[in-house]
Amino acid sequence: MKAIEIKKDIYWVGAIDWSLRNFHGYQTGRGGTYNAYLILDDKITLIDTVKKGFESELLERISSVIPPERIDYILSSHVEADHSGSIPFMAQHCPNATIITSLPNGLKGLKAHYGDLNYQGVKAGESISIGKRTLHFVTTPMLHWPDSMVTYCPEEKILFSNDAFGQHFASSGRFDDETELSTVLWEAKKYYANILMPYGKQAQTAIKALAGLDIEMIATGHGISWRSHIPDILACYEKWSNYEVEDRAVIVFDSMWHSTEIMAGAIAEAFREKGMPAALYDLKANALSDIMTDVFTSRYLAVGSPTINNQMMPTVAAFLCYLKGLSPKNHRAFAFGSYGWGGQSIALVEDELKAAGCEICLEKIRIANLPTPEMLAGITEKVKAI
Ligand code: FEO
Repeated sequence: MKAIEIKKDIYWVGAIDWSLRNFHGYQTGRGGTYNAYLILDDKITLIDTVKKGFESELLERISSVIPPERIDYILSSHVEADHSGSIPFMAQHCPNATIITSLPNGLKGLKAHYGDLNYQGVKAGESISIGKRTLHFVTTPMLHWPDSMVTYCPEEKILFSNDAFGQHFASSGRFDDETELSTVLWEAKKYYANILMPYGKQAQTAIKALAGLDIEMIATGHGISWRSHIPDILACYEKWSNYEVEDRAVIVFDSMWHSTEIMAGAIAEAFREKGMPAALYDLKANALSDIMTDVFTSRYLAVGSPTINNQMMPTVAAFLCYLKGLSPKNHRAFAFGSYGWGGQSIALVEDELKAAGCEICLEKIRIANLPTPEMLAGITEKVKAI
């Protein structure tokens, strides 16, 4: 496996994880990559490593350009193990390398994970010269860990952005102009919705900090890098970090004997009759991370569950727990469901929607046993009146 030159003397030396299907619970249908970059200058610099298990691929790609022991700096943009997991391995193969990390949280995190290595902490706004090039560090705390930082190289006009602007997307192409743009943007949205959604304020701060920089390439930590569609992805981040929603509806449900499913269908049809796109997600058949990608930018959310043992279905509980953790904003929501006797699930769903920060826009809809045509017509009227 060879390094890929992305600019003169700057190489992609990362790893492609074609079989990745679950990234700490995030379902990654298109696999993923762990991007690392090698800069040949007076001080040879490796920007990030790869997830443990892929260290041989990293080493092989680096070795296709230079002997790894010549590396002077290993820059750690982020302590999370998908980027830092091979630092101890690389430290063994690069005995002269200094590991650069953010102060104070990068240093604290790396020490906690990997013990004492040859670290050098850098502060927000600090720069180092590596020869013809400068590396300027912009800390981006809580985007999405306390230690996170991005690095700008003004001579090359490259932003090494780590998690920001990335996607879980395995591809032999490295750039946005080497693959289908709509697919990459959808994966970038999925990444933002499932990893960065809670940190809109921090993302806005980071966008402002980067606004004055002349950027010709965003070299991401995951998936495709940007060089032909930089304004597109920056515009998306502006919109996403402001939690902008569209007039569309997402209906999420589970069902035992189809009654809640039939109600879900009636709700979707009512939104459609209102002239609003609506998507139905059966929790038995859809991944939470895919559903959340759609919920993120949809103004309306309806969540349905039948009652089982006085509770909502566990699948619905898992969805609502995940939703709450992502701190969504600007959603109008309501609960619905069928039941045999108690019917406690629907109120429980409504409580969780409120706890997740949703504005309740319609009184919960409860139907005992099977929905009749008249009951479904009643649902249609209620939803159309929102
Ligand atoms: Fe790609 Fe937060 O790690």
